Amino acid sequence: MPDSAALPIPATLDETLQLMRTRLSHVIPDFEIQAKAEIAHKINLLKREMNAVILGHNYMEPALYHSVPDYTGDSLQLSVVASKTQADVIVFCGVWFMGETAKILNPVKTVLVPSEKAGCSLAEGITAEDVIALRKRFPGAIVVSYVNTYASVKAESDYCCTSGNADKVVKHLIAEGKKRIVFLPDEYLARNTAKDVGVRYFAATDSDEDYAALPADEAVVIGWKARCEVHELFTVEDVENIRKQYPDAVILAHPECSPEVIAKVDISGSTKLMVDYVRDVDAPRYALLTECSMGDNLAAEFPHREMIRSCTLRCKHMNTITLEDTLEGLRKLQYRVELSDDIITRARTPIDRMISIR
Ligand code: 13P
Ligand code: SF4
Repeated sequence: MPDSAALPIPATLDETLQLMRTRLSHVIPDFEIQAKAEIAHKINLLKREMNAVILGHNYMEPALYHSVPDYTGDSLQLSVVASKTQADVIVFCGVWFMGETAKILNPVKTVLVPSEKAGCSLAEGITAEDVIALRKRFPGAIVVSYVNTYASVKAESDYCCTSGNADKVVKHLIAEGKKRIVFLPDEYLARNTAKDVGVRYFAATDSDEDYAALPADEAVVIGWKARCEVHELFTVEDVENIRKQYPDAVILAHPECSPEVIAKVDISGSTKLMVDYVRDVDAPRYALLTECSMGDNLAAEFPHREMIRSCTLRCKHMNTITLEDTLEGLRKLQYRVELSDDIITRARTPIDRMISIR
């Protein structure tokens, strides 16, 4: 997404309130819009004063998502914006690993994440030591790390990927003749990607004997055991219930859901793919199996589309980012993402390789 795609930011409190009412009046109550508009306006004033840019992940709560970000998007889109921005300060309204990615791509900037608690069960599900041990166990394998990892893990990896380009990255490696691809840390994304690309999946938790029995000339994706604590909760029964109640709905799911769930839905893809689909493809109804704010944000943005609003799963990490904390973050320049030069240099290579094969 080029810088020119920046969202229009209202200049006055009245304009802010007007914009938020237009977008949000059928999603959140008016008293909440009024209270949030005052905070949003303060953020937008401060943002200009400080030459800051605000990046809002698609999972941000609707009042934030529809008021202060200069750019919204999935983790890949926002990383690309972060790498090119002319702003002095990048405020990443998303989780901590996303702020780290922005810092790696643009280390001279001050990068802030408004909450210190914005973790991620995937990023916490693997360490740099785990990657070093996996390299020993699978010598010669290429290590692909999902962007939902901390910088120390990226620094030990050969390539990064996001849910938007995992299949492209794996296909690229297979085309280069690579036979063993360790894909970290999300078990489900690894299994779903292996299936999409049409290669065998091997679990790193399986035995050495099973590994030794794999045909040497066949490409294999080797997966780790971490899961997204939100997407792993969606079940085949959830899909069947939606189908029973809304037979004409298109069901979209994030590839961090289990392969059993993905097999039952109509479309699987990153949060960007979901935004694009709902915007561009006419359907009687849309059901999203992903973090709930996403459905609310799309219902607000595309009022002519019917979103099935039965979701109850919020990401407790994304949920810690609020307008209040964003204002506080800008005022106090907190919480700063700081990484050593060594980590930045080593983590940058796999991210650059990913961006070059987008
Ligand atoms: P996207 O890269 O699709 O935005 O997803 C990030 C994420 O955390 C999904 O749970
Ligand atoms: Fe991590 Fe899952 Fe939350 Fe995304 S939704 S930030 S993968 S815990």
